[in-house]
Amino acid sequence: MTDETIVDPPQPVVDVANVGDWNTLLESAVADPEGFWEAEAQELEWSKPWDKVLDRSDAPFFKWFTGARTNIVTNAVDRHLNTARRNKLALIWVGEDTSKVRTFSYFSLAREVEQMANILLSMGVRKGDVVTIYLPRIPELFFAMLACAKIGAVHSVVFAGYSSEALNQRIDGSESKVVITVDGSWINGKVFPMKQIVDDAVKFSPTVENVIVVRNTESEVTMDPTRDHWYHELCKLPIAKGRCETVQVDAEDPLFILYTSGSTGKPKGVVHTHGGYQVHLSATMKYCMDIHEEDRWWCTADPGWITGTSYVIYAPLLRGATTFMAEGSPVFPYPDVWWQLIEHYGINSMFTAPTAIRTLMRFGDAWVRKHDLSSLRILFSAGEPLNPEAWQWFHDVVGNGKCAVIDTWFQTETGAMQLTSLPTMPKKPGSAGKPIPGQEVAVVDEDGKEVPPGTDGFLVLKNPWPSMLRTLYKEPERYVDTYWSKYPGVYLTGDSARIDEDGYVWIIGRTDDVIKVSGHRIGTAEVETAVGSHPAVAECAAIGLPHEVKGNAIHMVVVLHTGYEPSKDLIADIRAHVAETLSPIAKPDTIDFVEKLPKTRSGKIMRRVLKARALGEDEGDLSTLDD
Ligand code: WTA
Repeated sequence: MTDETIVDPPQPVVDVANVGDWNTLLESAVADPEGFWEAEAQELEWSKPWDKVLDRSDAPFFKWFTGARTNIVTNAVDRHLNTARRNKLALIWVGEDTSKVRTFSYFSLAREVEQMANILLSMGVRKGDVVTIYLPRIPELFFAMLACAKIGAVHSVVFAGYSSEALNQRIDGSESKVVITVDGSWINGKVFPMKQIVDDAVKFSPTVENVIVVRNTESEVTMDPTRDHWYHELCKLPIAKGRCETVQVDAEDPLFILYTSGSTGKPKGVVHTHGGYQVHLSATMKYCMDIHEEDRWWCTADPGWITGTSYVIYAPLLRGATTFMAEGSPVFPYPDVWWQLIEHYGINSMFTAPTAIRTLMRFGDAWVRKHDLSSLRILFSAGEPLNPEAWQWFHDVVGNGKCAVIDTWFQTETGAMQLTSLPTMPKKPGSAGKPIPGQEVAVVDEDGKEVPPGTDGFLVLKNPWPSMLRTLYKEPERYVDTYWSKYPGVYLTGDSARIDEDGYVWIIGRTDDVIKVSGHRIGTAEVETAVGSHPAVAECAAIGLPHEVKGNAIHMVVVLHTGYEPSKDLIADIRAHVAETLSPIAKPDTIDFVEKLPKTRSGKIMRRVLKARALGEDEGDLSTLDD
C-alpha cells in the first residue's frame, strides 16, 4: 500500500455513524471552533453556566468554560442515575484468570465511588490534595479515580509497571498524602509485588500519611499499622457508609496529574482539568469513537497512560456506555484470549495499540479465525504509527473486512485525540487521518514556516482545544518553554510528520529525546539515569532503534568504569537493574560497550551519531564532534 491507497469505510458503519457527513462537520467546526465546543458542552450538566467558552487573555495558559461549575463525576456517573442507565452496566471486568468476572451497573458504580470517597475524606483528603494511585487494571482503579474527582481531589495515576524509584519520584513530585495500591498484581500467572514497591517508594516520601491496600492476589505483604490499611476493612467501618456529595468545582480546577516523559530525567506532571476535558472526551467519544447506547466498548489501554485514563474510564462513562476492562495481557494464557473475550462479551468496538496488533499478528490468523467476532463494528488504534501491514491485518482478519479500522493520534498533553479518520471518512492506511472537528494542524520547518504538502517537518497544533494540558505541575515555565516557545502561538507536539495533498497527516516519529517502546513513552534521560546508577557504568547513552513488533527498542551504549569487563552476565545484570529501579518496560534490548561516547565540544552526547552507526547509515555532519 502507498500514500495513495484509499479504503472506503464499510457501508454498515457509515449507515449508523453519529458523525454523518464528515466534511460538513469539519468545515463548520473549523469555521467556529468555540461555537462547536460550546454546543458539545451543552450536552453535559453544569451547576453554573460559563461566562466565556475560551479565555485567551493569559495565553498560553488558556482557560475553557470560565466561570462554570461542574464535576466530571456529575456527568460520568451521577446524571445517569436519573435515567434508565441506572441499571445499565457501566463496567464489565474480567481478571487475568478469565473465570473471575465483576460487573457494575451505573448505580453500583456510584455506590462504590461514594464508599471510596468517604474513606478518602475520613483520611483528611480535601479539594486540591493529590492522591497517588498505583493500581493494576482492576475495578478499584475506577473507584479510586472517580472518588478523587468526586471530592475535588486530584489523582495521579502511576502505571503499575513502574518500580520503586520511579514511583517515589512521582509521589514526591506531587506531594501526595495518600497512596492507593494492592498487595500484588497478576502478570502472566505470577505476582508482581506492588505493595513491596510502595513500601520501598514511600520510605523516602515524607508527605505520605496513609496507604490504602486493596486485596487482589492474596499474597503476603507487610502492613505498617500506623500507615497502611486494608481497603476491605476500611469499607466495613461506619466512615465508609452513607451518601457522599459530588463537590461542584470550577471548570478550570485540576482533575488529574499524569506524569509523562520529556527530554530531561525529571518526568513532567501534565495537569488536566474538569470542564474542558469532559467536553472534549464526550465529543470525541460521540463523533470519532462513534459510541452508541447499546455498545460494549473495550479500550485495552492501561489507565496509567493517557489512552486508558481518557478512553477506558472517563470518555465511555461520560456517554453512559458500557466499558470493558481486562486485567491480563493479550497473549496469556493463549494468544486468543482477547478474541475469546470479544466473542464471549459481544464487544462492538475495540481500541488498542499497534504493538499489540503486531504481536498478535505474529501468532497467525488461526487463533483469530477460531472465534466469531461478528459483534465488532469499529477497530481503533493509538500510541504509535499503525503501519499499513498491521492496519491490513486488523482490517482483514480481526475485522473480517467488515469493520472500519481507525488510527487516532494524541498525547498525554492533548488529553484526547487530535487526529483521526472519522468513521465515515475514507481511510488511508498508515496515516493518522485529519484534525478532529475544531482543530487545525500544520507541518513547519526549523523557522516555523509551513512546508509544502508531502514535505517532512515539525507537527504543530494551531488551535487551543478544551482537553489541553493547562500547565506542568509546579513547573509553569517548563510548560511555556516545552510547548509554546519554539513557534509562538502554536503548540509544538514534538513529533515530525508530513501532510499529503488531501490533508491527511502522516506521523513519522518523535523529534525529541523520547522513545516510544510498545507505545509506552520513555525518556532517554530516564533510562540513562537508571543504567547510569549501576555500579559498573561510568557513562551511557540511550537511543531508539526500529523494532518489528515494539515499534522501537531501546539500544544502550555504555562506557564502563575501569575494573569492569563487558560480559553477558553484566548485560543481564544491567537490564535487571533497570527493571528494578525504573520499570521492566524500560529494559534496554541491546547493550554495546564502548571506550568513549561521541560528544560535542560542549559535552552533549551526539545520539544522532550513535543511531547512524547502529543502523549502518551515514553519520552526517561531524564538524561539531569533539573527538
Ligand atoms: C505517539 C499516547 C503515530 C506520538 C496517546 C506522540 C502516535 C506520542 C500516535 C504521545 C499515532 C500517539 N500515530 N504516533 N496514532 N499516537 N503517537 O503521551 O509520538 O503516551 O507524540 O500518548 O505518541 O505519547 P503519549
